[in-house]
Amino acid sequence: MSNTVRVQPDLNFVKELQAVGGESLKKCYQCATCSVVCPLSPDDSPYPRKEMVWAQWGLKDRLLNDIDIWLCHNCGTCSDLCPRGAKPGDLLAALRNMAYRNLAKPSAIGKWMSSSKFIPLLMAIPAAIYLIIWFIRAAVLKDAFPLNADGNVVYGLLFPGDYTIDPVFSLAFLFMVCAFVSGTRALLKSFEGMPKTYILGRKEQPGLIRCLVETIKYEVARHTQFQDCGQEPQDVKRFQGHLLVFYAFVALLVVTGVVASGHWFGGWFLGGVLGLEDPFTKLLSWAGHTPMPLWSPVKLLANAGAAALIIGLVFLTKRRLNLDKAKQGSSWYDWYLLTVIWAVALTGVGSEFLRLVNAKYLAYPTYFLHLIAVFMLLAYLPWSKLGHLVYRTVALAYARKIGRIPMQPKG
Ligand code: HEM
Ligand code: SF4
Ligand code: SF4
Repeated sequence: MSNTVRVQPDLNFVKELQAVGGESLKKCYQCATCSVVCPLSPDDSPYPRKEMVWAQWGLKDRLLNDIDIWLCHNCGTCSDLCPRGAKPGDLLAALRNMAYRNLAKPSAIGKWMSSSKFIPLLMAIPAAIYLIIWFIRAAVLKDAFPLNADGNVVYGLLFPGDYTIDPVFSLAFLFMVCAFVSGTRALLKSFEGMPKTYILGRKEQPGLIRCLVETIKYEVARHTQFQDCGQEPQDVKRFQGHLLVFYAFVALLVVTGVVASGHWFGGWFLGGVLGLEDPFTKLLSWAGHTPMPLWSPVKLLANAGAAALIIGLVFLTKRRLNLDKAKQGSSWYDWYLLTVIWAVALTGVGSEFLRLVNAKYLAYPTYFLHLIAVFMLLAYLPWSKLGHLVYRTVALAYARKIGRIPMQPKG
């Protein structure tokens, strides 16, 4: 009896894949150079050559359940050395883009995030929310560009933190977390059919949490695979750029956490509800009070984070602009992410500067744009390329669990 494998190609899928960044996949003639030169690909069933065949054949199920697309760090070495200009690195990036589009619910947002033509709609949602708040506050204060009693710009006059900023962003955050939960479940389910690798000396499969801790220790905190991915000067700049952007986000997250807990836990709960007046409560409420003086450690951390973010973005953007387009392309997903982070950084720094120089007609509109940019980064995160922050971390942990990558990096 022959062992026949039925190939069921999905031609629409091939077209869809080409549309999200895998245009050149038909050029591949299966020489396997890409799999040999990839610095990260395991020796056993290496990528990305096999993905090129699957894509040409339209093997949608194999590709959508393939954990290897998350192991690739998109250095482009394979595409640089491909003799046919088939851009295998771009194919793996296109598959990740498809995952951002389809994993999280509601999938309508995935569709809107997949093309520039829906940007006005995506921007209109936060713009409408903050415009309504602006109109209402301007009517109450009888001034659309108010100053406080000392004649200073204070953003809280137009957009009060307690009643507008905090509830809107808390809801956006909750929405993002729920979407990530649905997306991560779908991702883990898609990996169920992945073969397990037998490892000599390994008695039992490690738990996912242990694998997650190792992933955070190596790939997230130290960027080990990023360092191994490409040794050219532009690869080193990409690694440094990512490290700066990543730690800038961590710093800004710490600042947001300190301000929120200082204000709500220290000021409102301990000081207000419980009426405590001890030094700890006072320190906590002080840390949560905005605007804060420039010398405050929280403000210093925020400004250091903003500086690191901008330097990192310069590195990453310059690299993308200088890519040899014949070998490696940039998709809508790549540019959307860089642009939205730029928008957050520039409007954030701009809002601080314009507030300090008290230019109220420029300061309030800049702050309004900042709120829109932050909302777009946060609320649509699971459907954007930044979804990799969760999906890649989970996939790398799962890859450890099934033995696709070693628990600790070699060397
Ligand atoms: C707050 C967290 C993070 C931020 C802000 C961030 C930001 C970014 C940005 C802006 C890019 C695009 C670079 C480019 O255009 O070339 C990128 C790519 C990348 N990030 Fe992150 N990242 C974060 C977390 C992570 C984590 C946790 C990992 C690993 C587990 C990771 C791995 C990667 C990889 C491998 C790429 C290149 C892949 C690609 O371009 O498709 N990132 N990241
Ligand atoms: S993508 Fe390029 S390098 Fe890889 S197998 Fe095809 S032709 Fe060869
Ligand atoms: S882009 Fe880099 S990591 Fe990804 S498959 Fe190609 S060589 Fe490997």
